Amino acid sequence: MIIDVVTIFPKMFDAVLNESIIKRAQAKGKVKFHIHDLRDYTSDKHRKVDDRPFGGGAGMVMRPEPIFNCVEKIKSKLKGRESKTILLCPQGRKLTQAIAKGLSKLNNIILICGHYEGVDERVRKNLADAEVSIGDYVLTGGELPAMVLIDAITRLIPGVLGDKNSLNFESFEGNLLEHPHYTRPSNFRKIEVPKVLLSGDHSRIEAWRIKEAESRTRERRPDLLLPKLRRKNGQD
Ligand code: ADE
Repeated sequence: MIIDVVTIFPKMFDAVLNESIIKRAQAKGKVKFHIHDLRDYTSDKHRKVDDRPFGGGAGMVMRPEPIFNCVEKIKSKLKGRESKTILLCPQGRKLTQAIAKGLSKLNNIILICGHYEGVDERVRKNLADAEVSIGDYVLTGGELPAMVLIDAITRLIPGVLGDKNSLNFESFEGNLLEHPHYTRPSNFRKIEVPKVLLSGDHSRIEAWRIKEAESRTRERRPDLLLPKLRRKNGQD
């Protein structure tokens, strides 16, 4: 997969892309990142990426021209191969594991990091294929959300995580939060690990994990169970 990122702060990506699993995924040839400095796609001497909003009002708006120039250049290098252009902004569809999973199957993704009061509406309407938000809060820009999305997608690319099983039982798979985990020692400051986990009885352990995942989800995120219930009741 190739992920192109359009940003006014390219250096922000250095640390995140050069550590841990994302670094290894690149070394293994599973993913490649191209970080584009939006200012390189301006045509004025001040390399201006924003301007005042038509109609007045506070704040600045990201200009369409550099963003279109940059995305068009990226696409020209793809030579007709399919790509998806995603604008990171608070008005977008809220990121879920299902969205990340869908995106992890693509070969080419272009991420546009929004800023200021927003981006010119023509970017949304005429350039972006989708808009993604990472939650109902407003950040200073789309860079951190782009990194969150990159992380969520990269770890789902086949072969990126070493242990195949580590994707089997994680939170949000099958609309459940993950079951509790314990490691050595079995008695830590007099706090014991549940006995069943020491039993060696794999079917009992499996049953315990499912029960714990279900009760944890019911307690903390009952909203995740709703689609399941609706399906069960024939409402979907
Ligand atoms: N830009 C600013 N806030 C954001 C958010 N919550 N998600 C995506 N992009 C953003």
